[in-house]
Amino acid sequence: MKKFTLGHSKEEVFQLVPEKVIKKVILGETSVAIVRIGKTFRTFQAFCPHRGASLIQGTINSSGEIICPLHQYRFDLETGQLRSGYCDDLAIFPNELTDNGLEITIP
Ligand code: FES
Repeated sequence: MKKFTLGHSKEEVFQLVPEKVIKKVILGETSVAIVRIGKTFRTFQAFCPHRGASLIQGTINSSGEIICPLHQYRFDLETGQLRSGYCDDLAIFPNELTDNGLEITIP
């Protein structure tokens, strides 16, 4: 398990990740998508577990789900649970906003 820190302060992280804009970062060998909904950050695998489409082009709905751009499968961004479609759940990476930035844990 490895911990990565994005930014150097809470303010910097809020600027780096505008609300509902999906950003991608490479942490070690893992592509991680980051989105902010209000003051909450969601960090998850950047590629859809169905057929590998990039979720960076996905959309976030009002229920806190991401919708894949390719076949419109939906995943809960808090738990990673598949909400519509037939494939594995989305991998979610724990994160914590600290005074030193956003800490993201990769298993
Ligand atoms: S690749 Fe994402 S729903 Fe098919």
